[in-house]
Amino acid sequence: MGWSEELLAFHEEIAKYNLGPLWDVIHEIITREPVETAVPYLWKWPVIRERVMKSGQLITPERGGERRVVFLENPGLKARGFRAAATQTLYVGIQLLLPGEIAPSHRHSQSAVRFIIEGNGAYTAVDGEKIYMERGDYILTPAWTWHDHGHEGSEPMIWMDGLDSPFVQLINASFFEPHAEKRQPITKPDNYSVKRYGVGMLRPLGDRHHGYPSPLAVYQWTHTWAALQNLKAFDPDPFDGYAVQFINPANGQSADPRIDGVMQLLTPGMHTRAHRHLSSAVYHVVQGSGYTVINGTRFDWEKGDFLALPAWAWHEHVNTGSEDAVLFSITDTPLMELLDLQRVQEWTEADGHQPVKSVFEPLR
Ligand SMILES: [Fe+2]
Ligand SMILES: [Fe+2]
Repeated sequence: MGWSEELLAFHEEIAKYNLGPLWDVIHEIITREPVETAVPYLWKWPVIRERVMKSGQLITPERGGERRVVFLENPGLKARGFRAAATQTLYVGIQLLLPGEIAPSHRHSQSAVRFIIEGNGAYTAVDGEKIYMERGDYILTPAWTWHDHGHEGSEPMIWMDGLDSPFVQLINASFFEPHAEKRQPITKPDNYSVKRYGVGMLRPLGDRHHGYPSPLAVYQWTHTWAALQNLKAFDPDPFDGYAVQFINPANGQSADPRIDGVMQLLTPGMHTRAHRHLSSAVYHVVQGSGYTVINGTRFDWEKGDFLALPAWAWHEHVNTGSEDAVLFSITDTPLMELLDLQRVQEWTEADGHQPVKSVFEPLR
């Protein structure tokens, strides 16, 4: 840095007292823009699925410390010592439950959401309610609610877990408690919340539920799909195509207050405009094929793949297939907005499209 011998000696002297010179580190602490720590990254579904199924032969949920999960690990964060993080704030795991198995009941201060990928006959129990999981469903496990999983069906059940655990770890706010029973007592009828609140804009007269957590625990695929199809009658969002956000019907806010769930549909040939935002995201391809350009690199995707979009990275999506492409994603947008840190910027050159400088080669 060109500091004098005398000043360097001073740095050493104050370091002995656990003190530091701000002039030496100010540009590392207060950068002009976010520094890339998490990297844009794509995981292929066949690679994940094969390993998840293999884990089913090697470990049970109980022996796995409550759950049998293979998680996405962002290589940029891993290299800096951050484990089990897909972006700086978001964790994504792929969980397997085999017929007859139980993932024991527990609760934690981390928020969790789930997106169901394959199988049926399994349930997630949340606060006394059994929620039966079907492909395409979005399920909430709000922070500090008791939850366990059980499988009454006959085929392997696979779903995506999304948690804010990297963020919670960063602020050292992790609390965890196992339930006294392996399975929490069921106190409500099956799919209780769907029966009471599933229509969304109606609630039973006299019901005093409002605010947190969302009274609706599962957002079923048929409703999500219908909403996306109905949106096609309108102009798409220039950056996200036809996209819907899962909301808490009691307050109109994000269904989980810390993790946003988004489902977006891109019609064949659709090419969205590029933008970037401080909020990061992890995408899962529900159907179709196409690519996403992130900071000038093209990430080709098809059904089942997972894609990490770090904070403040330029991105645009293209559907190259002949059917509608559907992307599910979780984001940390509610956190960034709550903290008043969210920023959004549009790419203005070349009709909103970035030049593609390289093509990402995923591990296969
Ligand atoms: Fe959990
Ligand atoms: Fe975006």
